[in-house]
Amino acid sequence: MTENTPSLPVVLSAAQPTGALTLGNYLGALRNWVTMQDDHDCLFCVVDLHALTVRQDPKVLNDRIFDLAAVYLACGIDPEKSDVFIQSHVPAHSELSWLLNTFTQMGELERMTQFKDKSKRHKNNINAGLFTYPVLMAADILLYGTNRVPVGEDQKQHLELARDIASRFNNLHGPVFNVPEPMIAKGGARVKDLQDPAKKMSKSAESDLAKIMLTDPAKLILKKFKKAVTDSEGVIRYDEQNQPGVANLLNIWYTTLGKTQEEALDHFSHNMYGKLKVETAEAVIEMMTPFQERFQALQNDRPYLEQVLAKGAQKARARAEIVMKKVQSALGLPLDQNRFGQ
Ligand code: TRP
Repeated sequence: MTENTPSLPVVLSAAQPTGALTLGNYLGALRNWVTMQDDHDCLFCVVDLHALTVRQDPKVLNDRIFDLAAVYLACGIDPEKSDVFIQSHVPAHSELSWLLNTFTQMGELERMTQFKDKSKRHKNNINAGLFTYPVLMAADILLYGTNRVPVGEDQKQHLELARDIASRFNNLHGPVFNVPEPMIAKGGARVKDLQDPAKKMSKSAESDLAKIMLTDPAKLILKKFKKAVTDSEGVIRYDEQNQPGVANLLNIWYTTLGKTQEEALDHFSHNMYGKLKVETAEAVIEMMTPFQERFQALQNDRPYLEQVLAKGAQKARARAEIVMKKVQSALGLPLDQNRFGQ
């Protein structure tokens, strides 16, 4: 068992347990999380408290929390190397979130584009949690002295806010928080919608044909790729502007196989779209099959998952105390001796 190695940069990654994930999530994020484990001190969190900012069915939410943890492990996140845990198992997330609320301005939260979008989509439930969502996210990150956070385009604004909150606190009370940097994934693919390649592949796309879900059976994956939208040029080139559908397929093929764009063009440039579609499907199926087998095995072994998550939470709670103690001292809150010792 590898203990946390403090000299490695700390990385915190998190996802909400709000639904099945797509090939876009896999190639764009999860797969990179797995490789980060070798040269980073990684924490992987299932952020269930964030999910509560929109109404959830408790039973469904509970299943999805374990499913997401199973996805992490099935992808290759190794609980011996990294800390895998559920956010609500570490009360310090909520606790720090409260304290950071007092270092966050209403105006800053009002400017968050995700809040603006979500309050339009959930008009009858614009709760305060939806508003302070980015503060809880800042707490997730700042609690572990995190150095780097892998974030997609849609979360950059939230990370920027976390940095501002950390700096503001540090300026007032001394160097308590690390100010985290965004981490741009090397080789991460931006997978596009198969029906509308101008958009990114999203789990919320209306058409099922638009997205490959991580749990799609092989046959369905093949069908979806065969129906992928291309164009009428009939020539395989890499031209995101004029042939976004073809570029997307090439992209998926070479990132799935760990090859380069040049290799993709060498391989396909004298072929028809049919071959590109089928071979891309085959590459994806070959990658997904072992993942799906591991995922199913984990889904059928709840006791193992629970044990991994209990250990992960224990480690995370212990780590979180280091920062909590500093924060409380800095703010003049009397330290609870039962909690922090002398
Ligand atoms: N808001 C992120 C999302 O929806 C999830 C998240 C919560 C997160 N806390 C985080 C991501 C901390 C990175 C770090 O994708």
